[in-house]
Amino acid sequence: MLIRRPDDIPPSEIADPAVYRARRRFMTQAGGLALATALPAARAAPASLGPLTASPLSTAEPATSRRAVTGYNNFYELGTDKADPAENAFRLRPAPWTVRVEGLVNKPRSFTIEELLKLAPLEERIYRMRCVEGWSMVIPWVGFPLASLLRQVDPQGSAKYVEFVSHYDKATMTRGVLDWPYLEGLRLDEARHPLTLLAVGLFGEVLPVQNGAPIRLVVPWKYGFKGGKSIVAIRLVEKQPVTTWMKAGPSEYGFYANVNPEVDHPRWSQATERRIGEFTKRRTLMFNGYAEQVASLYGGLDLRRNF
Ligand code: MTE
Repeated sequence: MLIRRPDDIPPSEIADPAVYRARRRFMTQAGGLALATALPAARAAPASLGPLTASPLSTAEPATSRRAVTGYNNFYELGTDKADPAENAFRLRPAPWTVRVEGLVNKPRSFTIEELLKLAPLEERIYRMRCVEGWSMVIPWVGFPLASLLRQVDPQGSAKYVEFVSHYDKATMTRGVLDWPYLEGLRLDEARHPLTLLAVGLFGEVLPVQNGAPIRLVVPWKYGFKGGKSIVAIRLVEKQPVTTWMKAGPSEYGFYANVNPEVDHPRWSQATERRIGEFTKRRTLMFNGYAEQVASLYGGLDLRRNF
């Protein structure tokens, strides 16, 4: 990965949870616009997605500041510096948008964003996110479980993995750098896990382009790179997909990419992390602190070999 060591963002960047909650209450009470109408205006001003269901799967830890979450990004199609994706957001038009769900399914079909939003109630899920580069954030995502979408297409018995294809347009996006389109993958049971989210928003508002508008994958127990952005296709397949980062650096990036403090990246340790906005490093937790929910998925799997 074109990894840089984290630039520090000062503690003042952490959103005060009281301020953030008050703002969320206001937006919910003000009555949310439907994403369908909000999307064309997404670049002008973020639109509220309320009302949202609060999820028991959320962490109670304070959210990282909106400024850091939306200004310190990895989205290489829009540039390789952390500030590039926000600056180049105009290069990706998030509406209209469809997602094809295909491959080993009995009911393959395309969904518009409006159709996807009707599959399940939108939830706010506040997740710890850990990047392989050694920094972490707490992000209040808005989304729905990927499992709700998978149910619609009725996966066949032979489907074992799910591949996620991001939007790529060589006329407007970076050429070179990585093998485009950006591809990610999960095992089918990981994809069906209740923590696995398709996110359409953050901080109660429509997802900004730099964070993967209009829809992106969020898997909180894996390093951030598993969360493909601006997804246009989801394919159910029999064989383990070869993902973009596996192609770019097979000795550094494996298929699983579970947050695991015991397995170092070949060029640096993964034992600690810097939470954006904090001075002191924290110890990185196994599965990013979600071990209780997900460890059973990996019983019998050698996590050093399957890194
Ligand atoms: N998805 C696409 N399409 N392109 C990318 O470059 N970067 C990944 C992941 N998804 C990336 C992507 C990496 S390396 C990380 S750490 C996360 O997105 C960052 O998500 P965030 O910017 O919303 O925090």
